[in-house]
Amino acid sequence: MLYTRPPNVSSFTGDIIENDFRAIVIPVFKKNNKVAIEGVAEKADSFANGMFKEAIELGQFKGEVAEILKIFTKNKVLLFVGLGELSAKDEEKLENMRRAYAVASGNLKETSEKVLFAVEGSLKADLKREAVIGALLGSYALEKFKKEKKTKLKEVYFNIEKEIIDEATAIAEGVYLARDLANAPPNEVTPSKLVEKVKKLFKGLKNVEIEVYDYKDLVEKGFGGIVSVGKGSDEKPRLLILKYKGGRKDEKSLAVVGKTIVFDSGGINLKPSQSLFDMRADKAGGATALGVFWTIVRLSLPLNIVVLMPAAINVPSGSSYLPSDVIRMWDGTYVEVTNTDAEGRLTLADALAYAAKELDAKEIIDLATLTGAAWIALGPLIAAYFTRDEELSEHITSASKKSGEKIWRLPLEDSYKRLFSKKAPVGDIANAVARAGGAITAALFLERFIHGKPWIHLDIAGPGIGSDAQGLAPEYWPHGIAPGFGVRLLVEYIKNKTIEN
Ligand code: BES
Ligand code: MN
Ligand code: ZN
Repeated sequence: MLYTRPPNVSSFTGDIIENDFRAIVIPVFKKNNKVAIEGVAEKADSFANGMFKEAIELGQFKGEVAEILKIFTKNKVLLFVGLGELSAKDEEKLENMRRAYAVASGNLKETSEKVLFAVEGSLKADLKREAVIGALLGSYALEKFKKEKKTKLKEVYFNIEKEIIDEATAIAEGVYLARDLANAPPNEVTPSKLVEKVKKLFKGLKNVEIEVYDYKDLVEKGFGGIVSVGKGSDEKPRLLILKYKGGRKDEKSLAVVGKTIVFDSGGINLKPSQSLFDMRADKAGGATALGVFWTIVRLSLPLNIVVLMPAAINVPSGSSYLPSDVIRMWDGTYVEVTNTDAEGRLTLADALAYAAKELDAKEIIDLATLTGAAWIALGPLIAAYFTRDEELSEHITSASKKSGEKIWRLPLEDSYKRLFSKKAPVGDIANAVARAGGAITAALFLERFIHGKPWIHLDIAGPGIGSDAQGLAPEYWPHGIAPGFGVRLLVEYIKNKTIEN
């Protein structure tokens, strides 16, 4: 199985305290900077004979976001968790919900007891949904490659509507899938193994079609970028194309393209040792695209979408591509290889051009752990995004505010385009041109293969990898590994599109 499933969530309709659950999570808001002992918190306090109130008086609980207090009484553990101010702005409250419920579930993930998560009934549906998402993401553990599995939490309950739970579950599943794939060791997920696993995962699902170009197909069809990057490995590259038809037959597809470099050693321009280790997550973009696809299929959203994952391993060998090679790309552009470590843009360029010209996508979004420069500029929590389209820019920004996944726009500076021909005396353009402005020139390189389509490029080099986010990241991120960045962002973005139309 490719991926870990989140705990199963059921809707609970009984009394929030008087029941058989031995572990109950009790959310607590603050009002005017004071812990509000109301609603479920008040009920829980009287069950505990006023112990919660006492704890507050003793300064043991202040109601800060994601603060925790456990009280053991009458055969139960009551886990009080702070949600911060009730009057906080909407987007802040969404984040507070995710963080608080994530801490609570993270705390309980080694229990095999059934856990009840209480949610204040008066809250808006999207806040309730984020409570479930937070709880599911907070109990994620990558244990496939651990002999001893510690995570036992399998059954959880929420006192909210089933429809909300179903939506949250579909979203959390997408994130789980993205995390599992992004963090999978490269020996476990070679391009061919990836194809087999993905096929298995989507087998029998309605309106889903999977097309795979193997190495021979890629050579024959002229995918020079993917072939060049991948040919140095004994495990040859593949192009995975996943189609979902949930919209009208004649409606053009939204294309999501994800960088899927299973391992990036840099190739002949080999990376230094310290930089190698993170590069198993150089498939984070593809992993997120796959997670988005999973969620959209599970939600049966009314649109047509196609996900492209050009999967390759970038390693040096006698058959690797070489600095100064000139590659004929799928769309006929000749690229002069100035650095084999600028591999992502080569595989993406072929997939982007194919999405634009062959599939005639109506809009293209790509996700890629593309440049160290984006990571250095914005750090481990923020992705860079690029677009020429103001409307798309607004839409992705508002989706980001809701999902809490931070993005920041960088410019597609036209004058930098001159570098591409300047550095390529033999071919049309060079693949790598300058260290300064590296995220921008990488984006400009990709833009040449978009063929005029509306486009957003997300450089997720920082938050896609996540290894240096410890101590900075919200509680619903896993520790020190790829968090599945962008799944919730794009699901939100795409969902809004289906409402507009
Ligand atoms: N996958 C890397 C980018 C990367 C580096 C992501 C560190 C996350 C953390 C990419 O393939 C790469 O090596 N980019 C080079 C491009 C350069 C050779 C123009 C880079 O950023 O140094
Ligand atoms: Mn590279
Ligand atoms: Zn790379």
